Amino acid sequence: MLEQLKELHASALNELNEVSNSEELESWRVRHLGKKSKLNQILRSLGSLPLEERKDAGAHANELKKALESSLIEKKKALEEAYLVSSLERQRLDVTLPGWPIPTGRLHPITQTLEEICGIFKNMGFQVFEGPDVEWNYYNFEALNIPQYHPARDMFATLWVDSEMGGESRLLRTHTSPMQIRLMETQQLPIRAITPGRVYRYEATDATHESMLCQVEGLAVDENITLANLKGTLFQFCHCFFGDERGIRFRCDYFPFVEPGVEVAIQCVACQGLGCRLCSYSGWLEILGAGMVHPDVLKRCNIDPEIYTGFAFGMGVERIAMLRHGIDDIRLFYNNDLRFLRQF
Ligand code: PHE
Repeated sequence: MLEQLKELHASALNELNEVSNSEELESWRVRHLGKKSKLNQILRSLGSLPLEERKDAGAHANELKKALESSLIEKKKALEEAYLVSSLERQRLDVTLPGWPIPTGRLHPITQTLEEICGIFKNMGFQVFEGPDVEWNYYNFEALNIPQYHPARDMFATLWVDSEMGGESRLLRTHTSPMQIRLMETQQLPIRAITPGRVYRYEATDATHESMLCQVEGLAVDENITLANLKGTLFQFCHCFFGDERGIRFRCDYFPFVEPGVEVAIQCVACQGLGCRLCSYSGWLEILGAGMVHPDVLKRCNIDPEIYTGFAFGMGVERIAMLRHGIDDIRLFYNNDLRFLRQF
């Protein structure tokens, strides 16, 4: 019996040496200390031994059990330690590795142009306001001297939200000029404001037309504002944006909500004024409409035209960005082709 216990001990320790993970350790425990283990069989069979032998053998068998149990605990600790060490090794951070490049986004060319335009006017003391894209017929047309059957409605192919009948119908604003009215209704005089925003036209798209585009509207209302102030402001803007060298043309035009109305053009950026396809061989490119706020428009906003005068202007941002960067198709801006957008 003693021999048998010794052998058991030796082979158990041998096997324990080979154990290299916790699953193997568990199966070792079942094999050597479990219910069906040899040791357990011996312990159970002790009862059938004569008293003398039983005492001796029992003591040895219990000793062996204790010895195996403490070997088990030791082995368990050793495995845990080894696991910790190896996992620390595996998870070690190499802080000298270069990081992943993070691609930086950029502003859309129209946003960039918009910000530049607004920045120039902010420097001249204009405040920035924004207004609704869905606008009342009243603000987009009626208040701007464009009643229902006025021929100027043909200038704006309108996307209606409600039916056109009646004064209360809504539309997608066709220009940012309705903001002139909203500002004069709500702001204290004097006003110096610009309002960037999107406008919409019911129009087939081609290289120079989009059904959605951005405009920047400007409005100044105060005592003693003259056409010279308008001209000075717009020339200053053109010089800042297109450079001092570029020629500027300032001449009459018609818009129902201004009197007199003017149009500003710059010398063609492609041919420097000599005449080419871009400028239809005129040498000039129109960039904005403007004028002195019509007295009837002032009156409608409860501003006395005998005391106050004002000027207003509106420009298309896409067109200005196209001239600035030499882009020949307006549709490129909203096609979302990254090869195009990444250039800005
Ligand atoms: N709203 C006009 C347009 O879209 C431009 C304009 C604005 C003209 C202000 C005069 C004064 O064509």
